[in-house]
Amino acid sequence: MSETATEVRNETAPRFPMDRNPRCPFAPPEGTKTLRESNPVSRVEIWDGSKPWLVTGHAEQKTLLADPRISVDESLPGFPHWNEGMAANVSMRPKSVFNSDGAQHSHFRRMMTKAFTFKRVNALRPFVQQTTDELIDAILAGPKPADLVSALALPLPSIVISQMLGVPYESHGFFQENSVKSVDRYATPDENMQAFAAMFMFMHELVEKKMKEPDDDVLSDFAARARDGEIDVAEAAQMGLGMLIAGHETSANMIALGTLALLEHPDQLAILREADDESVVGDAVEEMMRYLGIIHNGQRRIALEDIEISGQTIRAGEGVIMELGASNWDPAAFPEPEKLDLQRSARHHTGFGFGPHQCIGQQLARVELQIVYTSIFERMPNIAVARPIDEIEFKSDRLAYGVYALPVTW
Ligand code: HEM
Repeated sequence: MSETATEVRNETAPRFPMDRNPRCPFAPPEGTKTLRESNPVSRVEIWDGSKPWLVTGHAEQKTLLADPRISVDESLPGFPHWNEGMAANVSMRPKSVFNSDGAQHSHFRRMMTKAFTFKRVNALRPFVQQTTDELIDAILAGPKPADLVSALALPLPSIVISQMLGVPYESHGFFQENSVKSVDRYATPDENMQAFAAMFMFMHELVEKKMKEPDDDVLSDFAARARDGEIDVAEAAQMGLGMLIAGHETSANMIALGTLALLEHPDQLAILREADDESVVGDAVEEMMRYLGIIHNGQRRIALEDIEISGQTIRAGEGVIMELGASNWDPAAFPEPEKLDLQRSARHHTGFGFGPHQCIGQQLARVELQIVYTSIFERMPNIAVARPIDEIEFKSDRLAYGVYALPVTW
Protein backbone atom coordinates (compact mmCIF):
# COMPACT_ATOMS: atom_id res chain seq x y z
CA MET A 1 0.00 0.00 0.00
CA SER A 2 1.56 3.31 -0.94
CA GLU A 3 0.49 6.66 0.52
CA THR A 4 1.42 10.20 -0.40
CA ALA A 5 2.45 12.66 2.34
CA THR A 6 -0.85 14.57 1.93
CA GLU A 7 -2.92 11.39 2.31
CA VAL A 8 -1.03 10.56 5.50
CA ARG A 9 -1.57 14.08 6.90
CA ASN A 10 -5.30 13.90 6.25
CA GLU A 11 -5.82 10.33 7.43
CA THR A 12 -7.28 10.12 10.94
CA ALA A 13 -5.25 8.05 13.35
CA PRO A 14 -5.65 7.34 17.06
CA ARG A 15 -3.62 9.53 19.43
CA PHE A 16 -0.57 8.05 21.09
CA PRO A 17 0.28 7.65 23.97
CA MET A 18 -3.08 6.22 24.95
CA ASP A 19 -4.79 6.20 28.33
CA ARG A 20 -5.04 3.09 30.43
CA ASN A 21 -8.31 1.92 31.88
CA PRO A 22 -8.16 3.01 35.55
CA ARG A 23 -10.09 -0.13 36.50
CA CYS A 24 -7.33 -2.34 35.01
CA PRO A 25 -4.18 -0.55 36.15
CA PHE A 26 -1.84 -3.38 35.16
CA ALA A 27 -3.16 -3.74 31.59
CA PRO A 28 -1.73 -1.82 28.62
CA PRO A 29 -4.15 0.75 27.15
CA GLU A 30 -7.20 -0.87 25.59
CA GLY A 31 -6.55 1.13 22.40
CA THR A 32 -3.26 -0.67 21.77
CA LYS A 33 -5.11 -4.00 21.86
CA THR A 34 -7.66 -2.70 19.35
CA LEU A 35 -4.85 -1.61 17.02
CA ARG A 36 -3.01 -4.91 17.38
CA GLU A 37 -6.17 -6.77 16.47
CA SER A 38 -6.85 -4.63 13.40
CA ASN A 39 -3.24 -4.37 12.24
CA PRO A 40 -0.15 -4.77 14.44
CA VAL A 41 1.58 -2.09 12.34
CA SER A 42 -0.72 0.97 12.21
CA ARG A 43 -0.47 4.73 12.09
CA VAL A 44 -1.00 6.85 15.21
CA GLU A 45 -0.86 10.60 15.75
CA ILE A 46 1.63 12.03 18.25
CA TRP A 47 2.04 15.39 20.03
CA ASP A 48 3.39 17.28 16.96
CA GLY A 49 0.60 16.10 14.65
CA SER A 50 2.89 13.68 12.80
CA LYS A 51 1.71 10.13 12.11
CA PRO A 52 4.39 7.56 12.77
CA TRP A 53 3.76 3.80 12.79
CA LEU A 54 2.86 2.09 16.04
CA VAL A 55 3.97 -1.52 16.26
CA THR A 56 1.89 -3.53 18.72
CA GLY A 57 2.43 -7.17 17.64
CA HIS A 58 5.09 -9.27 19.33
CA ALA A 59 6.46 -10.90 16.17
CA GLU A 60 6.40 -7.62 14.19
CA GLN A 61 8.22 -5.81 16.97
CA LYS A 62 10.97 -8.38 17.19
CA THR A 63 11.42 -8.34 13.43
CA LEU A 64 11.69 -4.55 13.29
CA LEU A 65 13.82 -4.12 16.43
CA ALA A 66 16.39 -6.47 14.90
CA ASP A 67 16.27 -4.84 11.43
CA PRO A 68 19.36 -2.68 10.62
CA ARG A 69 17.12 -0.46 8.44
CA ILE A 70 15.48 0.73 11.67
CA SER A 71 17.50 3.46 13.38
CA VAL A 72 17.60 5.25 16.77
CA ASP A 73 19.19 8.36 15.22
CA GLU A 74 17.01 11.00 16.86
CA SER A 75 18.64 13.82 14.84
CA LEU A 76 17.04 12.64 11.57
CA PRO A 77 14.01 14.64 10.35
CA GLY A 78 10.85 12.63 10.94
CA PHE A 79 12.09 11.02 14.15
CA PRO A 80 9.04 10.56 16.43
CA HIS A 81 10.23 12.30 19.62
CA TRP A 82 8.45 11.75 22.95
CA ASN A 83 7.59 15.39 23.37
CA GLU A 84 8.50 18.92 22.36
CA GLY A 85 11.32 19.08 24.91
CA MET A 86 13.05 15.99 23.58
CA ALA A 87 12.74 17.36 20.01
CA ALA A 88 13.93 20.86 20.91
CA ASN A 89 16.98 19.67 22.86
CA VAL A 90 18.13 16.99 20.47
CA SER A 91 21.33 18.83 19.50
CA MET A 92 22.33 19.07 23.18
CA ARG A 93 22.48 15.30 23.63
CA PRO A 94 25.88 13.92 22.68
CA LYS A 95 26.04 10.64 20.78
CA SER A 96 25.70 7.67 23.10
CA VAL A 97 24.46 4.11 23.19
CA PHE A 98 20.87 5.40 23.16
CA ASN A 99 20.99 7.40 19.91
CA SER A 100 23.62 5.73 17.73
CA ASP A 101 23.47 2.81 15.30
CA GLY A 102 25.79 0.20 13.85
CA ALA A 103 29.53 0.41 14.52
CA GLN A 104 29.24 3.60 16.56
CA HIS A 105 26.62 2.00 18.79
CA SER A 106 28.73 -1.16 19.27
CA HIS A 107 31.69 1.05 20.22
CA PHE A 108 29.72 2.75 23.03
CA ARG A 109 27.93 -0.42 24.06
CA ARG A 110 31.12 -2.44 24.51
CA MET A 111 32.37 0.13 27.02
CA MET A 112 29.21 -0.23 29.09
CA THR A 113 28.59 -3.98 28.93
CA LYS A 114 31.92 -4.67 30.66
CA ALA A 115 30.32 -3.68 33.96
CA PHE A 116 27.26 -5.89 33.43
CA THR A 117 28.64 -9.34 32.63
CA PHE A 118 26.75 -12.18 34.29
CA LYS A 119 29.77 -12.79 36.58
CA ARG A 120 30.16 -9.19 37.70
CA VAL A 121 26.47 -8.73 38.33
CA ASN A 122 26.23 -12.01 40.27
CA ALA A 123 29.10 -10.82 42.43
CA LEU A 124 26.86 -7.90 43.44
CA ARG A 125 24.21 -10.22 44.94
CA PRO A 126 25.49 -9.98 48.55
CA PHE A 127 25.56 -6.17 48.33
CA VAL A 128 22.02 -6.04 46.86
CA GLN A 129 20.78 -8.45 49.55
CA GLN A 130 22.44 -6.52 52.37
CA THR A 131 21.08 -3.18 51.11
CA THR A 132 17.59 -4.69 50.78
CA ASP A 133 17.79 -6.10 54.32
CA GLU A 134 18.89 -2.78 55.77
CA LEU A 135 16.08 -0.90 54.04
CA ILE A 136 13.52 -3.47 55.23
CA ASP A 137 14.97 -3.30 58.79
CA ALA A 138 14.38 0.45 58.73
CA ILE A 139 10.77 -0.04 57.54
CA LEU A 140 10.10 -2.59 60.29
CA ALA A 141 11.55 -0.26 62.92
CA GLY A 142 9.48 2.70 61.75
CA PRO A 143 5.84 3.76 61.99
CA LYS A 144 2.97 2.11 60.10
CA PRO A 145 2.01 2.58 57.35
CA ALA A 146 5.30 2.99 55.47
CA ASP A 147 5.62 4.12 51.86
CA LEU A 148 7.27 1.22 50.04
CA VAL A 149 8.31 3.50 47.15
CA SER A 150 10.38 5.99 49.15
CA ALA A 151 11.53 3.46 51.76
CA LEU A 152 12.63 0.61 49.48
CA ALA A 153 11.69 0.63 45.80
CA LEU A 154 13.51 3.86 44.91
CA PRO A 155 16.52 3.79 47.27
CA LEU A 156 17.54 0.19 46.50
CA PRO A 157 18.30 0.58 42.76
CA SER A 158 19.58 4.14 43.37
CA ILE A 159 22.12 2.93 45.94
CA VAL A 160 23.20 0.01 43.73
CA ILE A 161 23.69 2.03 40.53
CA SER A 162 25.36 4.92 42.40
CA GLN A 163 27.80 2.45 43.95
CA MET A 164 28.57 0.79 40.59
CA LEU A 165 29.09 4.08 38.83
CA GLY A 166 30.92 5.81 41.66
CA VAL A 167 28.37 8.63 42.00
CA PRO A 168 27.98 9.81 45.62
CA TYR A 169 24.62 8.51 46.87
CA GLU A 170 24.13 11.84 48.69
CA SER A 171 23.29 13.29 45.25
CA HIS A 172 20.36 10.91 44.79
CA GLY A 173 17.70 13.53 45.62
CA PHE A 174 19.11 15.86 42.97
CA PHE A 175 19.22 13.09 40.35
CA GLN A 176 15.81 11.68 41.14
CA GLU A 177 14.15 15.06 40.88
CA ASN A 178 15.92 16.07 37.67
CA SER A 179 15.75 12.72 35.92
CA VAL A 180 11.97 12.76 36.33
CA LYS A 181 11.80 16.28 34.81
CA SER A 182 14.25 15.52 32.00
CA VAL A 183 12.07 12.74 30.61
CA ASP A 184 8.60 13.75 31.81
CA ARG A 185 6.08 13.20 29.03
CA TYR A 186 4.38 16.55 29.76
CA ALA A 187 7.35 18.74 30.80
CA THR A 188 7.98 21.93 28.79
CA PRO A 189 11.12 22.11 26.60
CA ASP A 190 12.63 24.51 29.15
CA GLU A 191 12.00 22.17 32.05
CA ASN A 192 13.42 19.23 30.09
CA MET A 193 16.48 21.25 29.15
CA GLN A 194 17.23 22.70 32.58
CA ALA A 195 16.94 19.30 34.24
CA PHE A 196 19.11 17.64 31.63
CA ALA A 197 21.72 20.44 31.74
CA ALA A 198 21.97 20.34 35.56
CA MET A 199 22.56 16.60 35.62
CA PHE A 200 24.91 16.69 32.65
CA MET A 201 27.09 19.39 34.23
CA PHE A 202 27.26 17.47 37.49
CA MET A 203 28.33 14.30 35.65
CA HIS A 204 30.80 16.20 33.47
CA GLU A 205 32.54 17.55 36.58
CA LEU A 206 32.57 14.12 38.19
CA VAL A 207 34.19 12.57 35.09
CA GLU A 208 36.85 15.31 35.12
CA LYS A 209 37.49 14.58 38.80
CA LYS A 210 37.82 10.85 38.14
CA MET A 211 40.23 11.54 35.28
CA LYS A 212 42.59 12.97 37.93
CA GLU A 213 41.66 10.75 40.88
CA PRO A 214 40.33 7.42 39.58
CA ASP A 215 38.45 4.95 41.82
CA ASP A 216 37.40 1.36 41.23
CA ASP A 217 34.08 2.16 39.54
CA VAL A 218 32.43 2.37 36.12
CA LEU A 219 32.67 6.16 35.82
CA SER A 220 36.43 5.97 36.44
CA ASP A 221 36.61 3.48 33.59
CA PHE A 222 34.78 5.92 31.27
CA ALA A 223 37.05 8.73 32.58
CA ALA A 224 40.17 6.68 31.74
CA ARG A 225 38.88 6.25 28.18
CA ALA A 226 38.29 10.00 27.96
CA ARG A 227 41.80 10.67 29.27
CA ASP A 228 43.21 8.28 26.63
CA GLY A 229 41.25 10.06 23.87
CA GLU A 230 39.04 7.05 23.03
CA ILE A 231 35.94 9.15 23.77
CA ASP A 232 35.52 12.77 24.83
CA VAL A 233 34.51 13.94 28.30
CA ALA A 234 30.98 14.84 27.15
CA GLU A 235 30.45 11.31 25.80
CA ALA A 236 31.76 9.78 29.06
CA ALA A 237 29.42 12.02 31.06
CA GLN A 238 26.49 11.14 28.81
CA MET A 239 27.08 7.40 29.22
CA GLY A 240 27.27 7.76 33.00
CA LEU A 241 24.11 9.85 33.06
CA GLY A 242 22.27 7.39 30.82
CA MET A 243 23.16 4.53 33.13
CA LEU A 244 22.13 6.44 36.22
CA ILE A 245 18.73 7.39 34.80
CA ALA A 246 18.07 4.02 33.14
CA GLY A 247 19.27 2.16 36.21
CA HIS A 248 17.06 3.42 39.00
CA GLU A 249 13.69 4.68 37.82
CA THR A 250 12.93 1.47 35.89
CA SER A 251 13.80 -1.05 38.60
CA ALA A 252 12.11 1.16 41.23
CA ASN A 253 8.81 1.03 39.34
CA MET A 254 9.06 -2.71 38.83
CA ILE A 255 9.60 -3.21 42.58
CA ALA A 256 6.64 -1.12 43.76
CA LEU A 257 4.16 -1.96 40.98
CA GLY A 258 5.21 -5.62 41.14
CA THR A 259 4.62 -5.79 44.88
CA LEU A 260 1.17 -4.31 44.38
CA ALA A 261 0.39 -6.76 41.55
CA LEU A 262 1.48 -9.71 43.70
CA LEU A 263 -0.64 -8.55 46.64
CA GLU A 264 -3.60 -8.28 44.24
CA HIS A 265 -2.98 -11.89 43.06
CA PRO A 266 -2.65 -13.95 46.27
CA ASP A 267 -2.67 -17.29 44.40
CA GLN A 268 0.40 -16.18 42.42
CA LEU A 269 2.07 -14.68 45.47
CA ALA A 270 1.74 -18.11 47.15
CA ILE A 271 3.87 -19.60 44.35
CA LEU A 272 6.61 -17.07 45.04
CA ARG A 273 6.40 -17.52 48.82
CA GLU A 274 6.65 -21.30 48.52
CA ALA A 275 9.47 -21.23 45.96
CA ASP A 276 12.38 -23.33 47.14
CA ASP A 277 14.22 -23.20 43.86
CA GLU A 278 15.95 -20.21 42.30
CA SER A 279 14.49 -21.05 38.89
CA VAL A 280 10.93 -20.55 40.22
CA VAL A 281 11.86 -17.04 41.37
CA GLY A 282 13.69 -16.43 38.08
CA ASP A 283 10.60 -17.43 36.05
CA ALA A 284 8.36 -15.33 38.30
CA VAL A 285 10.45 -12.22 37.61
CA GLU A 286 10.26 -12.82 33.83
CA GLU A 287 6.47 -13.05 34.04
CA MET A 288 6.33 -9.86 36.11
CA MET A 289 8.43 -8.16 33.42
CA ARG A 290 5.96 -9.32 30.78
CA TYR A 291 2.83 -8.51 32.74
CA LEU A 292 3.76 -5.00 33.92
CA GLY A 293 4.42 -2.75 30.95
CA ILE A 294 6.41 -0.19 32.92
CA ILE A 295 8.20 1.14 29.81
CA HIS A 296 5.04 2.54 28.27
CA ASN A 297 6.04 5.52 26.14
CA GLY A 298 7.00 3.44 23.12
CA GLN A 299 10.57 2.89 21.93
CA ARG A 300 11.22 5.48 19.24
CA ARG A 301 12.80 4.65 15.89
CA ILE A 302 13.01 5.89 12.29
CA ALA A 303 13.13 3.86 9.06
CA LEU A 304 16.28 4.36 6.95
CA GLU A 305 14.86 2.47 3.95
CA ASP A 306 11.43 1.29 2.80
CA ILE A 307 10.34 -1.77 4.78
CA GLU A 308 7.44 -4.11 3.97
CA ILE A 309 5.77 -5.61 7.01
CA SER A 310 2.32 -6.90 7.89
CA GLY A 311 0.88 -5.69 4.56
CA GLN A 312 2.17 -2.13 5.15
CA THR A 313 5.05 -0.18 3.66
CA ILE A 314 7.02 1.82 6.15
CA ARG A 315 8.73 4.47 4.01
CA ALA A 316 12.31 5.65 4.53
CA GLY A 317 12.20 8.68 6.87
CA GLU A 318 9.01 7.63 8.66
CA GLY A 319 8.85 7.30 12.42
CA VAL A 320 8.22 3.95 14.07
CA ILE A 321 7.18 3.41 17.70
CA MET A 322 7.38 0.05 19.44
CA GLU A 323 4.75 -0.36 22.16
CA LEU A 324 6.37 -2.99 24.37
CA GLY A 325 3.41 -3.45 26.72
CA ALA A 326 1.10 -4.30 23.82
CA SER A 327 3.50 -6.89 22.43
CA ASN A 328 3.81 -8.50 25.86
CA TRP A 329 0.03 -8.90 25.94
CA ASP A 330 -0.12 -10.35 22.41
CA PRO A 331 -2.03 -13.66 22.69
CA ALA A 332 -0.09 -15.02 19.72
CA ALA A 333 3.03 -14.98 21.92
CA PHE A 334 1.49 -15.38 25.40
CA PRO A 335 -1.82 -17.28 25.63
CA GLU A 336 -4.32 -15.58 27.98
CA PRO A 337 -2.00 -12.60 28.35
CA GLU A 338 -4.26 -10.86 30.88
CA LYS A 339 -3.53 -13.65 33.39
CA LEU A 340 -0.59 -13.15 35.71
CA ASP A 341 0.87 -16.65 35.68
CA LEU A 342 4.23 -16.90 37.43
CA GLN A 343 4.71 -20.43 36.15
CA ARG A 344 4.35 -19.67 32.46
CA SER A 345 7.39 -19.48 30.28
CA ALA A 346 7.68 -15.75 29.59
CA ARG A 347 11.38 -15.41 28.81
CA HIS A 348 10.66 -14.21 25.27
CA HIS A 349 9.03 -11.00 26.59
CA THR A 350 10.22 -7.64 25.32
CA GLY A 351 10.21 -5.88 28.70
CA PHE A 352 13.94 -5.28 28.25
CA GLY A 353 13.57 -4.51 24.54
CA PHE A 354 15.03 -6.68 21.79
CA GLY A 355 17.82 -6.54 19.21
CA PRO A 356 20.97 -4.42 19.36
CA HIS A 357 19.55 -1.93 21.89
CA GLN A 358 18.27 -4.55 24.32
CA CYS A 359 18.75 -3.45 27.93
CA ILE A 360 22.34 -3.46 29.11
CA GLY A 361 21.33 -3.56 32.77
CA GLN A 362 18.88 -6.46 32.50
CA GLN A 363 20.99 -8.90 34.57
CA LEU A 364 21.29 -6.32 37.31
CA ALA A 365 17.56 -5.59 37.19
CA ARG A 366 16.81 -9.33 37.42
CA VAL A 367 19.09 -9.73 40.44
CA GLU A 368 17.46 -6.74 42.17
CA LEU A 369 13.93 -7.98 41.47
CA GLN A 370 14.64 -11.59 42.45
CA ILE A 371 16.15 -10.47 45.76
CA VAL A 372 13.66 -7.77 46.61
CA TYR A 373 10.44 -9.65 45.79
CA THR A 374 11.64 -12.66 47.82
CA SER A 375 12.84 -10.55 50.75
CA ILE A 376 9.73 -8.38 51.06
CA PHE A 377 7.41 -11.35 51.50
CA GLU A 378 9.82 -13.29 53.72
CA ARG A 379 10.57 -10.43 56.08
CA MET A 380 7.07 -8.91 56.02
CA PRO A 381 4.82 -11.99 55.85
CA ASN A 382 1.69 -9.98 56.70
CA ILE A 383 2.37 -7.09 54.33
CA ALA A 384 -0.79 -5.47 53.01
CA VAL A 385 -1.60 -2.30 51.10
CA ALA A 386 -2.93 0.27 53.55
CA ARG A 387 -5.43 1.78 51.06
CA PRO A 388 -7.96 0.40 48.58
CA ILE A 389 -6.37 0.02 45.14
CA ASP A 390 -8.63 2.72 43.65
CA GLU A 391 -6.98 5.27 45.97
CA ILE A 392 -3.48 4.44 44.69
CA GLU A 393 -2.13 6.98 42.18
CA PHE A 394 -0.53 5.52 39.06
CA LYS A 395 2.25 7.28 37.11
CA SER A 396 0.54 7.59 33.75
CA ASP A 397 2.42 10.83 32.99
CA ARG A 398 5.92 9.47 33.47
CA LEU A 399 8.44 7.80 31.23
CA ALA A 400 8.16 4.68 33.35
CA TYR A 401 4.78 3.52 34.65
CA GLY A 402 4.36 2.66 38.30
CA VAL A 403 2.89 4.06 41.50
CA TYR A 404 3.80 7.35 43.15
CA ALA A 405 3.51 5.86 46.61
CA LEU A 406 2.54 2.49 48.07
CA PRO A 407 1.48 2.74 51.72
CA VAL A 408 1.86 -0.65 53.38
CA THR A 409 1.33 -2.19 56.79
CA TRP A 410 2.76 -5.52 57.98
C1 HEM B 1 13.44 -3.42 35.42
C2 HEM B 1 14.34 -2.56 35.06
C3 HEM B 1 14.64 -2.17 33.64
C4 HEM B 1 13.81 -2.15 32.55
C5 HEM B 1 12.34 -2.50 32.48
C6 HEM B 1 14.60 -1.69 31.43
C7 HEM B 1 14.13 -1.57 30.12
C8 HEM B 1 14.90 -1.26 29.04
C9 HEM B 1 14.45 -1.28 27.67
C10 HEM B 1 13.04 -1.63 27.23
C11 HEM B 1 15.49 -0.93 26.87
C12 HEM B 1 15.50 -0.89 25.35
C13 HEM B 1 15.42 0.50 24.82
C14 HEM B 1 15.21 0.55 23.31
O1 HEM B 1 15.30 -0.44 22.62
O2 HEM B 1 14.94 1.65 22.83
C15 HEM B 1 16.61 -0.65 27.74
C16 HEM B 1 17.84 -0.22 27.32
C17 HEM B 1 18.84 0.14 28.19
N1 HEM B 1 18.88 -0.08 29.55
FE1 HEM B 1 17.42 -0.84 30.70
N2 HEM B 1 15.87 -1.43 31.85
C18 HEM B 1 15.94 -1.72 33.19
C19 HEM B 1 17.04 -1.61 34.01
C20 HEM B 1 18.24 -1.09 33.62
C21 HEM B 1 19.38 -0.95 34.49
C22 HEM B 1 19.44 -1.39 35.96
C23 HEM B 1 20.35 -0.39 33.76
C24 HEM B 1 21.70 -0.09 34.29
C25 HEM B 1 22.46 0.79 34.05
C26 HEM B 1 19.84 -0.17 32.40
C27 HEM B 1 20.51 0.39 31.34
C28 HEM B 1 20.08 0.40 30.03
C29 HEM B 1 20.85 0.95 28.93
C30 HEM B 1 22.22 1.59 29.02
C31 HEM B 1 20.08 0.77 27.76
C32 HEM B 1 20.42 1.19 26.34
C33 HEM B 1 21.01 0.05 25.56
C34 HEM B 1 21.30 0.39 24.12
O3 HEM B 1 20.70 1.33 23.57
O4 HEM B 1 22.12 -0.31 23.52
N3 HEM B 1 18.54 -0.61 32.37
N4 HEM B 1 16.23 -0.90 29.06
